[in-house]
Amino acid sequence: MKAIILAGGSGSRLYPLTRVSSKQLQAVYDKPMIYYPLTVLMAAGIKDICLISTAEDLPRFQQLLGDGSPWGIAINYRVQLRPEGIAQCFLIAEDFIGDDNVVLMLGDNIFSGGDNFPRALEQFKSGAAIFAYHVKDPERYGVVEFDREGNALSLQEKPEKPRSSYAVPGVYIYDSNVVEIARDTRPSPRGELEITDVNLEYMRRGQLRVHRLSRGFAWLDAGTSSALQEASAYIEAIERRQGIKIGCPEEAALVRGFLTLDRFEALVDQMPGCEYRSYLSGVADEARRFEGLK
Ligand code: TTP
Repeated sequence: MKAIILAGGSGSRLYPLTRVSSKQLQAVYDKPMIYYPLTVLMAAGIKDICLISTAEDLPRFQQLLGDGSPWGIAINYRVQLRPEGIAQCFLIAEDFIGDDNVVLMLGDNIFSGGDNFPRALEQFKSGAAIFAYHVKDPERYGVVEFDREGNALSLQEKPEKPRSSYAVPGVYIYDSNVVEIARDTRPSPRGELEITDVNLEYMRRGQLRVHRLSRGFAWLDAGTSSALQEASAYIEAIERRQGIKIGCPEEAALVRGFLTLDRFEALVDQMPGCEYRSYLSGVADEARRFEGLK
């Protein structure tokens, strides 16, 4: 399984924050936003990742994340010249996808808690899978209606009269047919290749599975200043209460076995003295103790 992180767009709702820095590089409490989706993918065992952003912002992501090798993963980069829709990413990353299944993760979506996502990945065979998250204001989102078996019955984009209270978050799983489907998709009236149209095509084929996200699962998107602030407050509350970090790629790499403990400790040694480093040192100490118990 491979993954695309889509981190372009115009970020106009966050102006002037986004005048010189992309949305997905903004701070969500103590880390750059992009760390969160990246860590979700890594924690689910995905090592092969393609990050897509604008020509202007891509070098900044490269500076931050490099080729991924220090974390035991591989990060490729592709440019989206204009924000012509989420589904365009499959055409941009066609050679990266090849014959593999692929996860698409939006770079401004923050997930925390539960094992719904890794479980859905394990179950995935072919077709497409999306997630359903209960929200108070479904009319603001893509809305999915589904049956007991998790088959999608309808998809509506920002509907006035939603058929369910379940919004579709920005993480999707597809087989490699997604490239052909995206190619056959026509731009919408707003001039974008819509991800909903891709999902509708899978639904028409009877191949769209829906996984309901459990109660303990948090989905935050950080598209507006208030949402960004709320996401930071949420992450801070959990981290301070539990003494664990959310969205820490180094830790996910260690837990998943992408890095040996020695390599992990060498990474930590390179960090400046800061709270992030102290946390990871604690993670390393704990891992050593468990090693001693083996
Ligand atoms: P949006 O939040 O819908 O759009 P945006 O990021 O351009 O922000 P705004 O509406 O404030 O102008 O995009 C959702 C995610 O998808 C976000 O991470 C950016 C990404 N995206 C792209 O990378 N390319 C695109 O063409 C589009 C439409 C979105």
